[in-house]
Amino acid sequence: MKMLEALAQGEALAPGDACRELALAVDPARIPAHIAIIMDGNGRWAKRRGLPRVAGHRAGVATVRKIVEDCANLGVKALTLYAFSAENWKRPRTEVDMLWRLLRFYLRHELEDLQRNNIRLQSSGRVEALPERVYEELRAVERETARNNGMRLNLAINYSARNELVDAVNAIIDEARIEGRLSELVVDEKMISRRLCTADLPEPDLLIRTSGEMRVSNFLLWQIAYAELYVTDTLWPDFNRVELLRAILDFQRRERRFGGLSEPPSESASGPEPEMEEIAVTSQ
Ligand code: FPP
Repeated sequence: MKMLEALAQGEALAPGDACRELALAVDPARIPAHIAIIMDGNGRWAKRRGLPRVAGHRAGVATVRKIVEDCANLGVKALTLYAFSAENWKRPRTEVDMLWRLLRFYLRHELEDLQRNNIRLQSSGRVEALPERVYEELRAVERETARNNGMRLNLAINYSARNELVDAVNAIIDEARIEGRLSELVVDEKMISRRLCTADLPEPDLLIRTSGEMRVSNFLLWQIAYAELYVTDTLWPDFNRVELLRAILDFQRRERRFGGLSEPPSESASGPEPEMEEIAVTSQ
């Protein structure tokens, strides 16, 4: 929030500056509590510049650092970033190794900023399968930031929403078996939600995907049931504060009904049920 105030007051910004205009338009009372981002387009960013793919990932890390800080300053409660999907192991070994090296670099260099911004880091995904040194570093930063009570930064690493759901259901079955109540077990939504990696976070309100693809790519399939989707053609390394504010403003213009109605139905609309033939005629 403090960022919006500073921008709106025009700190070091000329009138007409895109950030300032957007900051004035964004409603600080309706900042999405949880933003989830599919950070796509690093490879294309590099290719367009005739650079190796790894240069795109390196530029992507710089964007991560800025967007994390911006979200914390905007008052976002949780930010989930899709850093490595369970399917990303299919990439060439050199690229995968470089992604681990970048992640370790990020964790090592970001700890100070995370502490300064009171951000707590956590992870989602089968992180035990990560190379040992990456895993140890990740757990160390999680431990060291565990007492921070500002924004939650949730890194989805070796993450697959289908895996997450399968793990949740298996955990429910195992628990019931151990407690001897398997034959009476009836699974409900709460039991599943409680066992997801995001159990202690609000559900994502806004899902952003960069670089134009209209897919959710096995990301938070359960949790995004009612999230607003925002897709931008901007490649992840070019995503910036202006883009973030645009996405939030777009989110604030949406009408969220969660399957209900925005207004109670009028008397005529709530009258007697129409006959089947009427429905067929009116729906043509
Ligand atoms: C998609 O771009 C991006 C990834 C698979 C990895 C995202 C990782 C980072 C931004 C860096 C590490 C993350 C953290 C949190 C430090 P792509 O390679 O699929 O791009 P393309 O579709 O243009 O090829």
